Amino acid sequence: MYEAFYGFREKPFSLLPDPGFLFLSPKHRMALVLLEYGLMNQAGFTVISGGIGTGKTTLIRHLLNNLDRDTTVGLISNTHRSFGDLLQWIMLAFNLDDQGLDKVGRYRAFVDFMIREYAHNRRTVLIVDEAQNMAPETLEELRMLSNVNADKDQVLQVILVGQPGLRDTLRRPDLEQFAQRIAVDYDLEPLNVEETRDYVRHRVEVAGGDPGLFDDEACAAVHEASRGVPRLVNLVCDTALVYGYAEQAERITAALVRDVARDKRKGGLFPGGEPEAPAGTAPSSDASAGAGPRSVAAEPATGACGDRAPDTDFAAGGKKNYPW
Ligand SMILES: Nc1ncnc2c1ncn2[C@@H]1O[C@H](COP(=O)(O)OP(=O)(O)OP(=O)(O)O)[C@@H](O)[C@H]1O
Ligand SMILES: [Mg+2]
Repeated sequence: MYEAFYGFREKPFSLLPDPGFLFLSPKHRMALVLLEYGLMNQAGFTVISGGIGTGKTTLIRHLLNNLDRDTTVGLISNTHRSFGDLLQWIMLAFNLDDQGLDKVGRYRAFVDFMIREYAHNRRTVLIVDEAQNMAPETLEELRMLSNVNADKDQVLQVILVGQPGLRDTLRRPDLEQFAQRIAVDYDLEPLNVEETRDYVRHRVEVAGGDPGLFDDEACAAVHEASRGVPRLVNLVCDTALVYGYAEQAERITAALVRDVARDKRKGGLFPGGEPEAPAGTAPSSDASAGAGPRSVAAEPATGACGDRAPDTDFAAGGKKNYPW
């Protein structure tokens, strides 16, 4: 609707996790570097947590598009409490046939698969998105599965991605053994005001628009309304563009953004900007929601971590958070 008026090739603020629009804020870059560090260093478990809509799935998609050829990846993109047999989902994620196999048979088949991959110098990586829904018993099963080692190498590497509930689950005393195996973890926080401004301008530019379309005050108002949660930023900015188009406004101003925020809050479904609302309570509109597990073939590597790695001492922790 407003695309031609503002000179966009495509909509800049879609709600889908499109890696083409990836903006590596210092926080996203840090998460990505840690993910890559974990993969390279044979981390058994890597955990990335973060509030709703902070960009976890977007990061994972980017990682998948940039993995080395020698990596076999299985992605479970949705979990729920009545998840059932973990191995069944894992087999599906790696495209393995489990017809006629009972639980023991599936275990055998998956271990054989991992060993085969290892023998061909391929690493096996399982990524579980939305892992906050996994029951403690399922996580414990995952730990047992990752106990399969060859010499001193980790045969299966697992990346768990999820909302803060995941971290709460991992803090449970009965999961201490699991928690001790988490070699790398990071909590992805919302963007600050400067990062929000850069994020907005980045998306506008990628879509072919004038990066100055949202002036500084407008960007600050976007941050205030969204609290720096990227999905809410997209929601506010997309609507601001519709309002701007309706008024034939050449620039998006703070007043316009505040109108959007006020109207959205009136609707009751938009938590941003209300001081008493807990952080990260955005409505989930993830495109992957409802999708079952799927397997993903790793693409050739193209240099995954953006232009500059943060100057961070992994051992010292930086923004790392341990669940214990
Ligand atoms: N670093 C980023 N660069 C570009 N867009 C981003 C970034 N982070 C988030 N987004 C955008 O924000 C929205 C939410 O992102 P995403 O679905 O990855 O969040 P999530 O943390 O996985 O959310 P949920 O907790 O609901 O699963 C998407 O529209 C995505 O495109
Ligand atoms: Mg997600």
